Amino acid sequence: MAHLIAPSVLSADFGNLRRDIELINNSEADWFHIDIMDGVFVPNISFGFPVLKAIQKHAKKPLDVHLMIVDPDRYTQTFKEAGADILTFHIEACTHLHRCIQNIKQAGMKAGVALNPHTPIHLLEDIIADIDLVCLMSVNPGFGGQKFIENTFHKITALKKLITDKKSTALIEIDGGVDFNNYNKLISCGADVLVAGNTVFGNENPTNAIKQLKQL
Ligand code: DX5
Ligand code: ZN
Repeated sequence: MAHLIAPSVLSADFGNLRRDIELINNSEADWFHIDIMDGVFVPNISFGFPVLKAIQKHAKKPLDVHLMIVDPDRYTQTFKEAGADILTFHIEACTHLHRCIQNIKQAGMKAGVALNPHTPIHLLEDIIADIDLVCLMSVNPGFGGQKFIENTFHKITALKKLITDKKSTALIEIDGGVDFNNYNKLISCGADVLVAGNTVFGNENPTNAIKQLKQL
């Protein structure tokens, strides 16, 4: 499978949100990556349902919604109604992960699980077959524009092996610090989806940046 690029709307210009949504629509990007932060699970607050619905209204590509919130299962149905296609919970924020994943699927979305940089891959051993996407955080979640954590490469290799061993169809998504220096190695280690915030919207030509990240 060719790798996918999911520009992170967190790094868009919120004063020109419609413009930046159209930019992603008209680019080679595959998904919209949307970061929801509650100021409790992570030390930052991003945006909530009204903004997500506004994005959905104009977005012509799947919405990949990454929840950095406590007790995420409370909002599964609401995120479905707000337009999420893929809904990702943090394993660190979820006590009954199996139930949460079933709830996401029953609501008609793909189920993702995100792991913080310190969280080992082996915690997914007994759930990987039920997951559609694993989001490996390659920075500590909460902010765009942070430095990539190199240990992520080992985690991709370990996760790829687990997915193969358990015959899972889960995609591997890398989130945080993806740039032109590391994206090639991330793909060759086994990443399927690259999230990119600063590398896209910090570039003077975001459309070209997306195009470049699609090329190998
Ligand atoms: C961080 C978010 C990321 C962030 C990535 O907590 O989950 O999606 O927007 O931004 P960059 O690519 O700038 O690290
Ligand atoms: Zn994210």
